Amino acid sequence: MKMVTAVVRPEMFDAVRAALEADGIYGMTVSEVMGRGAQKGIALRFRGKTMPVELIPKVKIDMVVRDADVERIVGIVRANGRTGRPGDGRIFVLPVESICRVRTDQEDPEEV
Ligand SMILES: Nc1ncnc2c1ncn2[C@@H]1O[C@H](COP(=O)(O)OP(=O)(O)OP(=O)(O)O)[C@@H](O)[C@H]1O
Ligand SMILES: [Mg+2]
Repeated sequence: MKMVTAVVRPEMFDAVRAALEADGIYGMTVSEVMGRGAQKGIALRFRGKTMPVELIPKVKIDMVVRDADVERIVGIVRANGRTGRPGDGRIFVLPVESICRVRTDQEDPEEV
């Protein structure tokens, strides 16, 4: 199992969520976060002045998925989260050691 962490634009989140859902991906943890990437924030121009904005709002989606599904899910996020402009986000894939469902005694449930 893998943890797919996708950081996307807030305005693209709903399209990404809908596309994941259409593919049968339901389990996710969604957080409103602040972040920055290669551009180290942005320079905002307002009334002739330039103000540095260090951190930009993003939406983070955490999904624990089967290894076999990772490539497809990453493809869905890329296809539906992209505007082509800087700041479209990043996708990280991490190994997952175990899953425990609190309601039952079952550890490492087969379905994630
Ligand atoms: N190295 C990193 N570690 C953790 N989070 C990151 C990292 N790089 C980017 N992020 C997260 O991804 C968000 C979006 O990053 P962003 O899309 O600007 O990446 P980028 O590499 O600068 O790509 P682009 O050039 O397209 O803007 C950031 O706001 C931050 O939350
Ligand atoms: Mg960037």
